[in-house]
Amino acid sequence: MLDITVRDQKNLVTGEALSRALEEAAPVLARAQAGEEKYRDSQGWLNLDKWASDQWLEQIEAIAENVKKTCDAFVVIGVGGSNNAARSVIEALSDGTGTEIIYAGNTLSPHALNRMLQSLEGKDYAIDCIAKNFETLEPGSSFRILREAMAKKYSPEEAARRTICTGTYGSSLERLCEQEGYTFVPFPTDVGGRYSAFSCVGLLPMACAGIDIRALVRGGKDMEKLLHETGAETNPALRYAVLRNLYHQRGYVMEILASFEPQFRWFSKWWVQLFAESEGKDGKGIFPAAAEYSEELHAVGQYLQDGAPLMFETFLFVREPTGSLVIHPDGRRDDFDYLDGKDFGDINRAAFEATLKAHSAKMPCLILGIGRLDAYHFGQLFYFFQFACYLSGEILGINPFDQPGVEAYKGWMFKALGK
Ligand code: PA5
Repeated sequence: MLDITVRDQKNLVTGEALSRALEEAAPVLARAQAGEEKYRDSQGWLNLDKWASDQWLEQIEAIAENVKKTCDAFVVIGVGGSNNAARSVIEALSDGTGTEIIYAGNTLSPHALNRMLQSLEGKDYAIDCIAKNFETLEPGSSFRILREAMAKKYSPEEAARRTICTGTYGSSLERLCEQEGYTFVPFPTDVGGRYSAFSCVGLLPMACAGIDIRALVRGGKDMEKLLHETGAETNPALRYAVLRNLYHQRGYVMEILASFEPQFRWFSKWWVQLFAESEGKDGKGIFPAAAEYSEELHAVGQYLQDGAPLMFETFLFVREPTGSLVIHPDGRRDDFDYLDGKDFGDINRAAFEATLKAHSAKMPCLILGIGRLDAYHFGQLFYFFQFACYLSGEILGINPFDQPGVEAYKGWMFKALGK
């Protein structure tokens, strides 16, 4: 199971201060565990049995089996919460046994879109337009150009068979599916995009890519049980939420999610979106950013160690090495003899320990440890962070489920485009 440890050489939060804050936040946890009436329309993800039950998994797997049988590629059309969770797992774990996943609906760049279309040339593919409110420009416009591309390649019947839409019941997307004979799968009405990992939104693309979605959901359910049955004193999500708010109150306005595993690259993006869109409102919020080590020790590492003291750091730490690769002596004197016979697993671990020693002298560091980097543990992480983000938003005093700020730019953009 996931565990949290703190390394903070300045002792910014004493054990006593943490215990007091956990006690104060206990009612927040109790309300979250009970489910809150005021968030009824946004909490369909709290109980995974609702949208990730065995029945749903069977339906998702049946669609995915058909995709794997008939397609070389599967195009995920979606932006923000509509594609980040799936992408974070697929990019980390996909081993080539499933269908290739191609992403669209997340850019307006003609260069990127043309490249996406080129990457489909000569391939059989299906598309999945994932849109909760079918008004967002990026997925809507990509869906158009992909429908056009499919019309050139397939008969209308075949194109329809290869088109899936993940939309809300009663939406214009559902109506389009009825009219055109596309496959409709539900985007839960009571789950926002960034909380949708455990639903058709995240699970269908993952299943098409060959990810073990049952293991992922199992990990999520184990975490759900733990977080719902553990009290304030030992609840890891509450501890994380309370600690980040305590550091924030002490002037640390940014959180860096760091890891020594590039496999977390897209997961970090999901995490950034979850916290940025959930907490950054009413003039409040901790700014979330991510760093990929050891590469970025040669970039942001300098700022973290020597720059303005704005941030605390949260490390994702995988206890079991993600592989083994030994450096053998080659008889040449190149000043790297000290590495002879060493495994990269140990070298990477040494780099982590060294970074922790250096950074924790400057800023508070949290370590979130997980056993292995696999679908089961991704499931744990998704549920853990979703629940912690909810608690943290409550402690901060904002609504973690809306995103009013996103609407401002959309208004100007629609005006510019004559909508
Ligand atoms: O988390 C969210 O609510 C957002 O990031 C949405 O997922 C994103 O804006 C896409 O929305 P939609 O699926 O309605 O196009």
